[in-house]
Amino acid sequence: MMEREKILVNCALPYANGPLHLGHIAGAYLGADIFVRFNRMMEKEVLFISGSDEYGTPITISAEKNHVTPQEIADKFHNMQIETFNALDINFDKFMRTSDPEHDIDVDEFFLNLLEKNYLVKRYMVSPFCKTLNKFMPDRYIEGTCPYCGYEGARGDQCDNCGRTLDPMELINPVCNLVNETPVFRVTEHFFLTLDSLQKDLSDYIDSKTYWKQNVLKFTQNFINEGLHPRAITRDLDWGVKIPISGYENKKIYVWFEALIGYITGARVYSKEIGKPDYWKSFWMDRSVKSYYFIGKDNIPFHTIIWPSMLLAHGEYNLPYNVPANEYLRFDGEKFSKSRGIGFTADEMLKFVDKNSLRYYMASILPETGDSDFSLHEFQYKVNSELVDKYGNYIYRVESFIEKNGLSPHIPESFDTNDSEILNLIQSKFSAYCEEIENLHIKRGLSIWLELVMAANNYFTEAAPWKLIKVDMDKLNEKLYISLKMGQYLTVMLYPYVPSAAISIMESLGMQLNPEKSTFSKILNDNNFHVNKGNIPFEKIDLTNPNVLDIQLATVVSVENHPSADSLYVIKVKGDKLYTSVSDLKKYYSGEALTGRKVLVLTNLEPAVIRGIKSDCLILSVKNAGSVELPTGSGVDGEPVAAGNYTYNGDGTMTYKEFQKMQFSIACHHLMVKLGENQYPLMLNDVYINLSTEMLDNVVIK
Ligand code: 2FM
Ligand code: ZN
Repeated sequence: MMEREKILVNCALPYANGPLHLGHIAGAYLGADIFVRFNRMMEKEVLFISGSDEYGTPITISAEKNHVTPQEIADKFHNMQIETFNALDINFDKFMRTSDPEHDIDVDEFFLNLLEKNYLVKRYMVSPFCKTLNKFMPDRYIEGTCPYCGYEGARGDQCDNCGRTLDPMELINPVCNLVNETPVFRVTEHFFLTLDSLQKDLSDYIDSKTYWKQNVLKFTQNFINEGLHPRAITRDLDWGVKIPISGYENKKIYVWFEALIGYITGARVYSKEIGKPDYWKSFWMDRSVKSYYFIGKDNIPFHTIIWPSMLLAHGEYNLPYNVPANEYLRFDGEKFSKSRGIGFTADEMLKFVDKNSLRYYMASILPETGDSDFSLHEFQYKVNSELVDKYGNYIYRVESFIEKNGLSPHIPESFDTNDSEILNLIQSKFSAYCEEIENLHIKRGLSIWLELVMAANNYFTEAAPWKLIKVDMDKLNEKLYISLKMGQYLTVMLYPYVPSAAISIMESLGMQLNPEKSTFSKILNDNNFHVNKGNIPFEKIDLTNPNVLDIQLATVVSVENHPSADSLYVIKVKGDKLYTSVSDLKKYYSGEALTGRKVLVLTNLEPAVIRGIKSDCLILSVKNAGSVELPTGSGVDGEPVAAGNYTYNGDGTMTYKEFQKMQFSIACHHLMVKLGENQYPLMLNDVYINLSTEMLDNVVIK
């Protein structure tokens, strides 16, 4: 048997300090999964690796905030992220974790290898030291103004605005963000990677990367042209991989040095798990094997400068073949950001759309060539009109017709001119699709698919089988055969993007699509259709509910104890009129604290009688780390509040059940609350949120 071509696909190791948001999915993971599925269908042997990045200061920051250990944070989010990937059909061969002792083995080997070759040298450096906390502070805890672009929120490790990696000393007006004071800079000994001595080799390597995406290449060339300098790869930290030589017990290896080695650990551990311990070497050491790194743009320097330098220094492993970094996904014009509460997590979205729809829409807006915008309106439109109406309905029309008439179309002996042309069109669209994805234009592959969907619909309508059935059974067979063939191509081409749905539609054509074994050529050479019409595996989605929330500003007029429920208040508020709310705020607020306050109320809920008292509005509250806070504003009573896309137009009421179903309060739905000109992210009820007062200008949280 001919050996299959191997490729290695690595995906940035997400920090295990929070749920994955849609920005992550669009930035790296979805594109990678599509590319992997596509390549497997092209008969390549693919190894697909990612894992949790469990060290690093973002995790220690979360741990401190939540009064738990960093490992507890990492455990929680490692498991949560695995579940999210599974729920999205993103299936790595191995999702490793950097806290796995196996990872220490690889990091130790790498470190000692580079040390022995003098690519690691000891140097003194000056680090930010917080006098109040009496310790060296991680770079990330220091914030200030970027000396390159002037961005005021730059961190000591990197500027999120211009993407440059920074030294905290470079920041203008540095401040330690734990205690909000200016750090002092003190001398400390560390290991440095001698990037300067690798500059020539690295430049030669980058010069050969003419096929890289322009943004990645330009960024990297600029970086190198500014001159490479030795870079500290250890830190004064407790949480991290130990330095494998004695005398450095209080220091750890810097996360950006060891996490990259996680790609090797992932491949090696996977090989061990499948009982072929050397399997990984055939991906890492065979020079002909191409490796791809799917990452977001803030990770570029680490994957095009640091990691290649480390690999050059080490000498035994392949350097990245391509690093197709994506730009950012924006939500209402702003970068998706978990920390700032902008956008949705993948889990939140999956509560009200299915994974097929989500993958479809996200694939169609991958930020491959520039930032792209996520919009609920567009999401709904694309899924309903393209995936459901155009493609799903096409399959359904063809299959229903065949089934209804008890037909079994088979390959005809010859094709008329029109059909030969159609067959050529299908072929050429398929080749174009393959070429696009091979060149990492994943979004364009999907556009070509959509063009073919349109062509298929036109073909079926023009063929008018309902007329042919009365006059020409041979022609009918030919037309239906081609219709099925188009359905087969469309389904197999959809598979990398929307795998679960494609697999079940394939079954309805009487064919098996097995992610482990199937290939494009095997499936497309099969002409034995056995139609067994299933249900179309897509449902239309309704995301916008544009007119269902009437939120308004109101003032609390009076607070009384509920006459027959100890834990409840009966609160009267004045908005556009007087409302009554039977509320459990009693747990959190005294009557005096509430009276006179401005609150946000939802007023078009169907009134409910709670222990004998009618409640006709809901006071919106926000749970923030155990306490309940009340968003408020400074307008006049009754002023409408626009929440995200849910602006009320004055019609209709809904039941509490419908309100819950909207995922508005119960299932962690982020909302943008608009007061006056400003929009604020808000998550309601039930949900841990982090609303900091700086974020809120005329919304006051007390
Ligand atoms: O940006 C991030 O989420 C990093 N945790 C990515 C690390 S990629 C590599 F180093 F493994
Ligand atoms: Zn900057």
